[in-house]
Amino acid sequence: MRFAAKLSELESLLSKRWRGMGGSHRRLRPVETYGPRELLVREPSGLRPLINFSSNDYLGLSQMEQEVKLSSQPSSRLLGGNRCRVEAWEAEVATYWSKDSALFYPTGYMANVGVLSCLPQKGDLVLMDRLCHASLIDGVRLSSARWKRYRHLDMEHLESLLKDHDGAGAVWVVSESIFSMDGDCPDVSALRQLKERYGFILMVDEAHGVGVMGQGGRGFFEDQGALDLVDILMFNFSKTLALQGGCVLGVGELKRHLVALSRPQIYSTATPSSHWEALLPRMAAMESDADGRRHIAGLKKSIEQGLGLQNVGPSGIIPLMIGDGSKALAVFEQLWEAGFFCPAVLPPTVPQGKARLRLSLNSSLRESDVNALLVELQKCL
Ligand SMILES: Cc1ncc(COP(=O)(O)O)c(C=O)c1O
Repeated sequence: MRFAAKLSELESLLSKRWRGMGGSHRRLRPVETYGPRELLVREPSGLRPLINFSSNDYLGLSQMEQEVKLSSQPSSRLLGGNRCRVEAWEAEVATYWSKDSALFYPTGYMANVGVLSCLPQKGDLVLMDRLCHASLIDGVRLSSARWKRYRHLDMEHLESLLKDHDGAGAVWVVSESIFSMDGDCPDVSALRQLKERYGFILMVDEAHGVGVMGQGGRGFFEDQGALDLVDILMFNFSKTLALQGGCVLGVGELKRHLVALSRPQIYSTATPSSHWEALLPRMAAMESDADGRRHIAGLKKSIEQGLGLQNVGPSGIIPLMIGDGSKALAVFEQLWEAGFFCPAVLPPTVPQGKARLRLSLNSSLRESDVNALLVELQKCL
């Protein structure tokens, strides 16, 4: 009886808060099978295929088959012993990026939280682009360092904050390479000049650059010939590599610190090593798939030309700005009905008044898919 009473108290509290929030557009949509080009969604009337303009499986590597024998180790790497094969894979990944060390985390979210919650310390200052991913924000919120946000991609604003710094403690600058909701990127030569002038530590999240940019798919900073500029490079396995996990690359001392201090690493069970069995084969496929990268660039060009878009960033992400949240949802529904999955992104994920459709192009999509989408978009934008 007491249990039932408690439950209804919780229910009434949550439903009151839900009403106070005006509900939420966030709900899960049932997908029966996933493919980078096509999703099969379950609807009351049955299964329906949708062309997938939402996937971060940029090179379609989810479709690479590999038999693995499930292994698990129900403890953290620190407490239960470190699997030699994981250590060896980390060394290979570090070498591929020409960095001294790599440390894997169960997810990219945990990697960002793990770095920023422990490395910047009291007396340090963290300067972060205003549109950085939630995992970077959550990480720095857990740290004891001071932190400020600079206007999105605004290097002059970043410089004015660097000038204001009193000189005590280390300064950490944090940016994404390709911003996940806008597809744009920082000005690398301006960052280099600022770094030379003010001497900060640069952390970059390459989640959306890896696979899509750079000759070997190492990301935006490889593309710009500027991997040396990045002190802490984070990327995740859950986009192009279509696995699960995060990776932090940098000097050897970085890994030593994270192993000893980074709480998501210490207090969470190690990812089963079998899960990463496919990592190196997928990285090799990523490296050699320059055609896939070119194909994505071609699809993007067709969309830019078809919609008359300008200044779209260099990646496969295209934001179609709508502004009003309910209009964005209406366009999303209309495209869904027409057979396209183009997710709407609304506040608080993006700032108020900046609701959009977020197209994410992958190499499994065809030119004919893009043309069909353009026809539909002309009707509803
Ligand atoms: C820029 C960026 N960083 C970090 C993450 C988190 O990575 P994961 O999904 O592997 O936890 C994401 C994923 O949405 C992302 O887009």
